Amino acid sequence: MGSWGALELGLLLCAVCGAAGELHTLRYFQTAMTDPGPELPWFFEVGYVDGEIFMHYNSTGRRYVPRTEWMAASMDQQYWDGQTEIAQSNEQKDRMSLVNLAWLYNQTSESHTWQRMAGCDILEDGTNRGYYQYGYDGKDFIAFDKDTMTFTAAVPEAVPTKRKWEEGGDAERQKHYLEEICPQWLWRYVEHGKAELGRTEQPEVRVWGKEADGILTLSCRAHGFYPRPIAVSWVKDGAVLGQDTHSGGIVPNSDGTYHTWVTIDALPEDGDKYQCRVEHASLPQPGLYPWKWPQPSLVPIIVRVVIPIVVIAITAGIGFTIYRRHAGKKEKGYNAAPSQDGGSSSSCTGSNQTL
Ligand SMILES: *[C@@H]1O[C@H](CO)[C@@H](O)[C@H](O)[C@H]1NC(C)=O
Ligand SMILES: *[C@@H]1O[C@H](CO)[C@@H](O)[C@H](O)[C@H]1NC(C)=O
Repeated sequence: MGSWGALELGLLLCAVCGAAGELHTLRYFQTAMTDPGPELPWFFEVGYVDGEIFMHYNSTGRRYVPRTEWMAASMDQQYWDGQTEIAQSNEQKDRMSLVNLAWLYNQTSESHTWQRMAGCDILEDGTNRGYYQYGYDGKDFIAFDKDTMTFTAAVPEAVPTKRKWEEGGDAERQKHYLEEICPQWLWRYVEHGKAELGRTEQPEVRVWGKEADGILTLSCRAHGFYPRPIAVSWVKDGAVLGQDTHSGGIVPNSDGTYHTWVTIDALPEDGDKYQCRVEHASLPQPGLYPWKWPQPSLVPIIVRVVIPIVVIAITAGIGFTIYRRHAGKKEKGYNAAPSQDGGSSSSCTGSNQTL
């Protein structure tokens, strides 16, 4: 059930949310495309530790390369050669898989995507969880269940694959990888990257509202936080509101921090009762950020104070210019006119303030 996209998003969002009990996570996303578009690699693999990209491979470079400084500093050539060898082999297998899938689905020339997600979680209680699943054209295809040692076919087309993999001993190999190898490597990566992975950066939280058609839409934005897990919710009269909220998800910033927002629709008269609640590893306790009606509008101030000043300034400027022109004519130097600048610069300042 559910599309591959939703599955992937769910895992990415939740596999790294500390609240669910995961201590550390390791994920490898592998993608093969029949038609990636010009100049783009048709195959790539990306590794994430605790939700952060830490290594990657593609069919153009054909080498696994570090994506963090701590990986570059802590792994030797033998490690990179070994990872590269595995990825090159995956690349070859996926080339065949794409051909087989097109045959299986009786497809001809269109573009298709074959994805794999594999990895493990170390949970707070010391146990592990493993993932090994494939999707085709954005839909679940087959997934491995390490507890029953079986592959689950999500579509009829996957049944022959299930049979082949179960008979071929893939189940034992995957179980061993997911339960032993994967968590061991995860501990190692976390140890090497702890200075960076263990840092925390506080979110900058902003709350504002916009009223339209009798509905007040309140928006709470948390910016620049690390690590990725965060819980942003709306609270009214002390109760957390789950319904009627919308979120844009947690998205990465280019500086390695994250950004998220959550909105809620409220009745304008209830506006003051809402607070945005933010829970994050960088905050000793959940932060509460109330929404307040904006300060009295600046318009009256502008009308009463700024405009008269501008009018005076313009009048003075024009007077000054006329005076200068007059004076200039007298001096037979019409070039003196640029002193008009005195008048125009003050009127510019005035209009900037209004905007
Ligand atoms: C492919 O990998 C190489 C390193 O092997 C990297 O320099 C390049 O930017 C990657 N290309 C893409 C499109 O990610
Ligand atoms: C496969 O596709 C072709 C045309 O694209 C069609 O004529 C044929 O009946 C299809 N075969 C099956 C088994 O669906």
